[in-house]
Amino acid sequence: MSGNRTFTMLKPDAIENGHMGKIIDMIIQAGFSIKAMKYTRLSEDQAKAFYEVHSERPFYGELVEYMTSGPIVAAILEKDNAVADFRALIGATDPAEAAEGTIRKYYAESKGRNAVHGSDSDENAAIEGKFHFADSEVF
Ligand code: RTP
Ligand code: MG
Repeated sequence: MSGNRTFTMLKPDAIENGHMGKIIDMIIQAGFSIKAMKYTRLSEDQAKAFYEVHSERPFYGELVEYMTSGPIVAAILEKDNAVADFRALIGATDPAEAAEGTIRKYYAESKGRNAVHGSDSDENAAIEGKFHFADSEVF
């Protein structure tokens, strides 16, 4: 059975704090199937390009520094209504505002270091997935 796709990254703070396994388990238990996954580290150029949309924001430099500070897990996930359901699973950007039971409520350190990324639209999910994975790496 196929569904819609979204793209996620487990961010450097999540890996550093030992939350990789627990977060992946929450994603699977929530009904997402893993279509692609890799453990990698963003270069400065990759992080700048990925967050280009935020290049004029005051936190852009800090965001690029944080996202390149250590390894991440990148993944393509599939589920009906994947983009919206995954945003619901991760919770609000700021963990202080994230709902109970969400990944960011459990594992984010702060609004900046917030454990996980989720695509904000089907279009961006496709762009972000291609940014990290060749067609031969998607199953
Ligand atoms: P993401 O793209 O990573 O899934 O996060 P999001 O949609 O919830 O939030 P977005 O507005 O797209 O911001 C992207 C990432 O930038 C960092 N940020 N820091 N210090 C700040 O005020 C601030 N605001 C945003 C966060 O890492 C956020 O996830
Ligand atoms: Mg975003």
